[in-house]
Amino acid sequence: MHKNQGPVYYNDYLMLEKFLDCQQPLSRKYADQSNPEAHDETLFIVVHQAYELWFKQILHDLNSILKIFSQSKVHDHELGTVVQRLERIRKIQVMIGSQLEILESMTPMDFLEFRNLLIPASGFQSTQFREIEIKLGLNTHDRQSIDREFFLGRLNEKDRQKLIELEGSPSLLKLLEAWLERTPFTISGDFNFWNEYQKTVQAISSEDEATIQSNMANLSDREKQMQLENLKVTRETFESLFDEEAHAQLVSAGGRKLSRKAILNALFILLYREEPMLALPYQMMSLMMDIDENFTTWRYRHALLAQRMLGTKIGTGGSSGHQYLKRAADNNRVFVDLFNLSTYLIPRSRLPQIPEAVKRQLNFHV
Ligand code: HEM
Repeated sequence: MHKNQGPVYYNDYLMLEKFLDCQQPLSRKYADQSNPEAHDETLFIVVHQAYELWFKQILHDLNSILKIFSQSKVHDHELGTVVQRLERIRKIQVMIGSQLEILESMTPMDFLEFRNLLIPASGFQSTQFREIEIKLGLNTHDRQSIDREFFLGRLNEKDRQKLIELEGSPSLLKLLEAWLERTPFTISGDFNFWNEYQKTVQAISSEDEATIQSNMANLSDREKQMQLENLKVTRETFESLFDEEAHAQLVSAGGRKLSRKAILNALFILLYREEPMLALPYQMMSLMMDIDENFTTWRYRHALLAQRMLGTKIGTGGSSGHQYLKRAADNNRVFVDLFNLSTYLIPRSRLPQIPEAVKRQLNFHV
């Protein structure tokens, strides 16, 4: 613990003189007799600054998580820290989401009083937002090609170089992949969990086919065809888990991001999450999904805010505005593979039995 070297004064500690002097509306700077200061520009600045402060805290926590995951081995107590910090990021996201509502108390006409003064500044230039996206695992090539020029093209050279360099460092998604690939348990001695799992899936699929066939009497030929087609698609989806080539095709089409081994081990964690050793890893993956989902929700809310303020006008950064933001909300996802794991779940009662030796490794010994 550190020792205090002298009395601390609240205003000095928080550097409030400097901090509270950082809200400088442009409409105040350019105000004259016929054009007074736009009252709501202060709110606009305060809300954006509050966001940037919270982005700073998110990055502070995210950086510490990346550091822990960059080690060749992550200890159990460190996984606890990761879960606690991911939980904090999730809570911050929930709280900052509601700040858009405060900004919506500004009417579109009040916004028009100062909007043109901001051109060409834009949220595109929030380097902290980009840094969070990149550090979570969203790279330039993951974005829609029509949108790529926007987020790098609107930055000054220094910021652009910084972000390009960041893209070369391992993201949380990549570090999670490496960690999942190292997860033991699924293959041990004579036991190969995946052989057992595949047998169960095949049995379930045959039962499904038998059910469809026995219910076919009342169906039209088209309906029969459709049901069998759906069953075929489900089988192929399962098979892609065990077929490296099919998996590679999905990766190159952008349908999957994680390696096959990482997906399989994540699935094992999901299937056996009630085993004590897997509870924390499961919680961690759930939080990563929450964080991804919260970003998507924020993107949709922000797209609606932009539409409410601008209608179909273009943004100050030159994009199509609402249309661009909606597209970004649909596409800019990071942990999609974790969401899609639900495709491969099977009923608890059909889960393959794990051998005693493996089961012992999955339990705490007191
Ligand atoms: C009146 C309120 C707001 C309006 C009308 C608005 C509008 C827009 C528009 C149209 C864009 C697309 C880029 C462009 O062409 O400029 C954009 C991007 C962005 N805005 Fe806002 N925005 C508002 C408030 C906020 C707030 C409070 C934040 C919080 C930090 C924010 C953060 C961002 C970010 C990070 C982007 C880039 C998003 C991406 O590329 O995925 N905006 N905004």
